[in-house]
Amino acid sequence: MSLLPNEKKVLRGVEEGMKRHEWVPVEDIEAFVHLGRKEVEYRLNRLVEMNIVERYIQSYVGYQLKFDGYDILAIEGFVKRETIGALGEVIGVGKESVVLAAMSHRPVAIKFHREGRTSFKHVKRSRQHLIDVEKIENFSWLYAAMLAAKREFEVMKVLYPAVSIPEPIDQNRHAVVMSVVKGVEMVKATLVEPEWYLDGILEQVKKAYDLGIIHSDLSEHNVMVSDEGLTIIDWPQYVTVGSKTADEMLERDVKNVLVHFEKKYRLKRDLQSTINYVKGIAAGQPS
Ligand SMILES: Nc1ncnc2c1ncn2[C@@H]1O[C@H](COP(=O)(O)OP(=O)(O)OP(=O)(O)O)[C@@H](O)[C@H]1O
Ligand SMILES: [Mg+2]
Repeated sequence: MSLLPNEKKVLRGVEEGMKRHEWVPVEDIEAFVHLGRKEVEYRLNRLVEMNIVERYIQSYVGYQLKFDGYDILAIEGFVKRETIGALGEVIGVGKESVVLAAMSHRPVAIKFHREGRTSFKHVKRSRQHLIDVEKIENFSWLYAAMLAAKREFEVMKVLYPAVSIPEPIDQNRHAVVMSVVKGVEMVKATLVEPEWYLDGILEQVKKAYDLGIIHSDLSEHNVMVSDEGLTIIDWPQYVTVGSKTADEMLERDVKNVLVHFEKKYRLKRDLQSTINYVKGIAAGQPS
């Protein structure tokens, strides 16, 4: 969707106003965009018609960005920075995200976070990692999604290239641009050499652990497999080694993987010795 310059300005005005209001009054948008009231109202009507801004009539008339409007602002940001040139198809829909193909000088994937609507509490709980949030009075879905994207991009930069993950390329608002991963989600695959993949996954879990990172949502849905190897995706909910929930998360991650291989391929591994392998604890040594 391409917007006229004044529509873009007003869309930015709504975004800016959402730092202070859940529903942004027209006066605030007007003050931000430096356009007359008539023009602002006209453009707002257009944005509402396009279904990228929502109007709410209460004691006053307020406006809020919809996710599609926020997507447009993020895409604009990437185009300006020449991170992407053209948009492609939807290549993935997760619990809390939409992933699109895009082109720069090579094919890339854009993951648009959608956290705010569903796991607001989770993001709020993890906000001690994100100091600037404290300053934002109105902690809306928009910030929840932006913080999740920021968190994912930052941790990907720590892990890449030591761990087999997509290459992190850029982040803007609630969106992360990364390299396209080959293959399919492991849940959809039938592996010919399952043991090779199981060892490979555990090796990557260990490498991440050595860098101080535990995925915390690891399962057959977040491992992509192809003939050439495997890639672990979807990192925003990671915890750090040494944090309160670290052991619990690591155990859950490893267990999810082991249960999958046991059920689907009858490959059995001992949970505790696998955890010890990840942690670098030699057999016989107390954990
Ligand atoms: N870099 C990528 N290349 C190709 N496909 C991808 C890539 N990243 C994600 N996908 C596809 O999109 C789907 C959703 O992505 P992802 O698992 O990161 O999000 P999610 O499950 O919604 O996670 P979150 O917990 O962050 O909300 C994946 O299962 C996968 O099929
Ligand atoms: Mg996922």
